[in-house]
Amino acid sequence: MLIKKSADILPSEITPRRVYEGRREFVRQLGRIALLAGAQALPFAAAHAQSGQKIPGLKKSAFSTTEKQTPYKDITTYNNYYEFGTDKADPAQTAGKLKTRPWTVSVEGAVAKPRTYGIDDLMKLGAMEERVYRLRCVEGWSMVIPWAGFSLSDLIKEVQPTGNAKFVEFVTLADPAQMPGVRQQILHWPYVEGLRMDEAMNPLTLLTFGLYGEVLPNQSGAPVRVVVPWKYGFKSGKSLVKIRFTEQMPKTAWSLANASEYGFYSNVNPKVDHPRWSQATERRIGEGGIFAQKRATLMFNGYGDQVAQMYAGMDLRRNF
Ligand code: MTE
Repeated sequence: MLIKKSADILPSEITPRRVYEGRREFVRQLGRIALLAGAQALPFAAAHAQSGQKIPGLKKSAFSTTEKQTPYKDITTYNNYYEFGTDKADPAQTAGKLKTRPWTVSVEGAVAKPRTYGIDDLMKLGAMEERVYRLRCVEGWSMVIPWAGFSLSDLIKEVQPTGNAKFVEFVTLADPAQMPGVRQQILHWPYVEGLRMDEAMNPLTLLTFGLYGEVLPNQSGAPVRVVVPWKYGFKSGKSLVKIRFTEQMPKTAWSLANASEYGFYSNVNPKVDHPRWSQATERRIGEGGIFAQKRATLMFNGYGDQVAQMYAGMDLRRNF
């Protein structure tokens, strides 16, 4: 895999300092190397993914923050979805043709009742709520997003995990025919994320189908993604096709790419810096651009009351 080979080459040896300081820039360089190595060029479709379809019966949620919400346009044009390219603007431009119907999610592994759900049946499984959550990316920016979904625990209770279920693995779509990024070795495809069982059962962990009251646009992870608000954004896998209950800790896409920089837990933690940059502050997208005053990042992204007890007694510097 390209990203492994590149571990031998320090980014500082191949690019000037101002370019390699920043994860996105780093990955973009890797993408360029892939192109130089003879990988296929990205065919950029002009289509902008938009949804417009309302989600009926949304209830307000006690878990919502009252902070100012990030505008829809920013949420849907500043994205990380490497299957559709590594620039923030790429997913909005190239994800428009992703086919999200029919769509199935297979729930399997250590459960008494494994089942493959059609997406429309899955959407009816829990009480759909609007949850306004902060999302804090490991790159140092944040947004406030009114998601629509229900607690993942509603689904977990349906399939009845066995005593062997210690972790949950989230596998996302990797279709080279529809996803130009998957035709390059940017990450280890499919993009996989994982949670410990208690994290997956925490009521804040949201199985997410929409934002701003409408079904998710493709670049935001249609037709279904997970949102884990106290962890860095990359824990929130998009366009899920499989949810698997396992005894072993899942091997996740970013840990496989660079284990020393991206750990399994990835809780938002202002006291544990990323090896190449501080995590103490963040830039709120939509608030005055790059010159705006940065905000102090909060432990567990401000959700400590609901989640800190899950990590009592754990060394969060080692388990980053
Ligand atoms: N899911 C998939 N399948 N592919 C990805 O590249 N990027 C992750 C996460 N989920 C990613 C993904 C990262 S790094 C972040 S910060 C969030 O999605 C971004 O979600 P957003 O674009 O909706 O803000």
